[in-house]
Amino acid sequence: MILQPLRADTRSWQDDHLRELFSEGFPQFITADHLVKQYIGRVREWFGAFDLMLVDEQDVPVACGWGVPVRWDGSPQDLPGGYAQSLVRAVEGHEAGTEPDTLVICGAVVTPSLTGRGLAGQVLTALRAVAAEAGLSKVVAPVRPTLKARYPLTPMGTFMTWTREDGLALDPWIRTHQRLGAVVLGPAEVSQTMTGTVAEWERWTGMAFPASGEYVIPDGLALLRVDRAADRGVYEEPNVWMRHV
Ligand SMILES: CC(C)(COP(=O)(O)OP(=O)(O)OC[C@H]1O[C@@H](n2cnc3c(N)ncnc32)[C@H](O)[C@@H]1OP(=O)(O)O)[C@@H](O)C(=O)NCCC(=O)NCCS
Repeated sequence: MILQPLRADTRSWQDDHLRELFSEGFPQFITADHLVKQYIGRVREWFGAFDLMLVDEQDVPVACGWGVPVRWDGSPQDLPGGYAQSLVRAVEGHEAGTEPDTLVICGAVVTPSLTGRGLAGQVLTALRAVAAEAGLSKVVAPVRPTLKARYPLTPMGTFMTWTREDGLALDPWIRTHQRLGAVVLGPAEVSQTMTGTVAEWERWTGMAFPASGEYVIPDGLALLRVDRAADRGVYEEPNVWMRHV
């Protein structure tokens, strides 16, 4: 299936198509990062050129992907802390008039009925092409490994090294990036920080947290820490930095 990439903000999209596209894949707590909430409005306003919707032959949106432009010197030490810090660097760099040279791919989604056919590779390829057109010579991504939720006790630095017999990563989403020539740079230990009250976490996860402590939560890549006395739950999401070459 050949998809055509369009800037997402150049058209309006039917609600039922968008509902279908985003119906799986992300837990409810994914939007509970306060830093992201603070910056996402300006990201949407300023970086629409890097927000793509991919339509099929019938003009139906079936995949999407987006990123932000940042300045990065190419060294591991200069990488943003992860997804949230990439938004911060992009927005603050834009405000300061800093010339970006790197695209940070922030996410990609394929409509559930069409996963496993390589469409995500087309999303990443389209994003790389947009980066090149914009003069961004480097492309990196804080990847959210889809299989990591099955191994919440394993440090990301360990999980990212696990491979299959063919030498590719155990994780399917890391593999998709690898097939396009991307390499793993290292873990982004705190790519996002989600915080909420105990009641909010109970609602987001469908679980009860009767005592303070650490919990395995559905679709969590790491553990949730609950502090009942402070009425607070904190989940720090680890991702994996990859670089496209
Ligand atoms: C992650 C995602 C973008 C991958 O898209 P895709 O087009 O299915 O990717 P690919 O076709 O390249 O498949 C990659 C691998 O995952 C496997 N796969 C895809 N969908 C799968 C599924 N639902 N269950 C199990 N494996 C699956 C494929 O078989 C393939 O494995 P292979 O390397 O052995 O061939 C898509 O599954 C998705 O939108 N998920 C929800 C959102 C998300 O997690 N996005 C990534 C973080 S931002």
